[in-house]
Amino acid sequence: MEKYRIRGGNPLVGTVDISGAKNAVLPILAAVVLTEEVCCIENIPNIVDVRTALDILEALGAEIRSIDAHTVEIDPSRLHTHVVPHDLSRHMRASYYFLGSLLGRFGIARSSMPGGCNFGVRPIDLHLKGFRALGATVPDTLDNGMIEVSAEKLTGNSVYLDQVSVGATVNIMLAAVRARGLTVIENAAKEPHIVDLANFLSSMGADIRGAGTDVIKIRGVDYFRGTSYSIIPDQIEAGTYMAAAVATGGDVLVRGVIPKHLESITAKLEELGATVEELEDDDAIRVSCTGPLRHCNVKTMPHPGFPTDMQPQIAVLLSLASGTSFLTENIWDNRFKYVAELQRMGADIQVNGHTAIFQGVSHLTAAPIKSHDLRAGAAMVIAALCAQGVSIVDDIQYIERGYENIVEKLQSLGADIERVYVPDQPFANAQ
Ligand code: UD1
Repeated sequence: MEKYRIRGGNPLVGTVDISGAKNAVLPILAAVVLTEEVCCIENIPNIVDVRTALDILEALGAEIRSIDAHTVEIDPSRLHTHVVPHDLSRHMRASYYFLGSLLGRFGIARSSMPGGCNFGVRPIDLHLKGFRALGATVPDTLDNGMIEVSAEKLTGNSVYLDQVSVGATVNIMLAAVRARGLTVIENAAKEPHIVDLANFLSSMGADIRGAGTDVIKIRGVDYFRGTSYSIIPDQIEAGTYMAAAVATGGDVLVRGVIPKHLESITAKLEELGATVEELEDDDAIRVSCTGPLRHCNVKTMPHPGFPTDMQPQIAVLLSLASGTSFLTENIWDNRFKYVAELQRMGADIQVNGHTAIFQGVSHLTAAPIKSHDLRAGAAMVIAALCAQGVSIVDDIQYIERGYENIVEKLQSLGADIERVYVPDQPFANAQ
């Protein structure tokens, strides 16, 4: 029943610190089970998905010690099961990374079909193709909603991904690091979190080349040592605050980022009329916007293209940009559900298949709006921050899966946002 109450109109001004990357920390937490020694992971974002991943590790038998708010020590020496509990895995899509890592550690892994954000069909056929190529047995049907993969021994092989997939690249890497011989993943994903996972695995003793290109070569090793590792900053959280700064006509220093990871986002914000300054020495980006926004076209693509996870947030800016803009979604089938919410705030948007067409309007008007998924929820927050009047954002649990302290961070930038308890009124219209 908790919602966000946001009064729009305040330009965001000040400095925001970016947390560790959700999509890097989740595969890295799964990768910890590959060793029997203690790992210390730093710069962990305090978000719901991380708590779920830590709960899974505990359920498997790992001991977890919090060192501080963003650092944990994990001792995976006494794991006692290869089964990821259904109650935990169904809440988080990335729980399927334990399939790859437990297969690597024990030669067998069992988990339920993954949950997570619903923006169309989310198959895992490429993950399974990879496991099979390494010699694992993968049944064609689910057993009571669970999937079990097993292998007497994993053997390196070539795997061509028919479509660039972050999840499949991660899962194949997690199993291949323990396979005998050489695995070559072709048409691999190149996202910063793939490189971060490769760096983490290498710090444990893995032999991985080419992460960050579309051919990753992995030579399996038997022994993985414990390690200390700091997670990269969250590219999408940074992009979200950059978009919010532009939408509100603000001036924000986004700190603790890797500017290179933000290039595709920076390019589009500049095209829209924002000023973006990279402060390479300070690991920061300053984003400001004073004038009206200009229309532009955006197409989502695998890295280094414009990320699909920034698509709903940039849509808010295109709603306000003068003229006609086109936004094409090339990764997911059904990622425009939030458009109905923006339309109720006065945006002029038409969706035609994979493309949304925007006729810019002068302003958005506050409304009760809801989050359809994590990034759509972030877009609703941005829309409410720049709308005239007070908006109530519902279904904030999606947002809190991936944004650490979003209310506090926005408040520190001058936003009028608070978490409120608003009881549902199912019979409000009954006479
Ligand atoms: C990850 C991100 C998600 C992001 C997406 C694309 C995490 C936890 N989630 O999701 O936020 O939106 O990358 O950047 O990191 N596909 C198949 N078969 C498969 C796997 C994928 O056809 O076996 C297709 C999907 O339907 C989709 C495309 O490949 O059309 C990309 O999906 P993928 O990169 O795998 O996304 P996720 O890893 O699920």
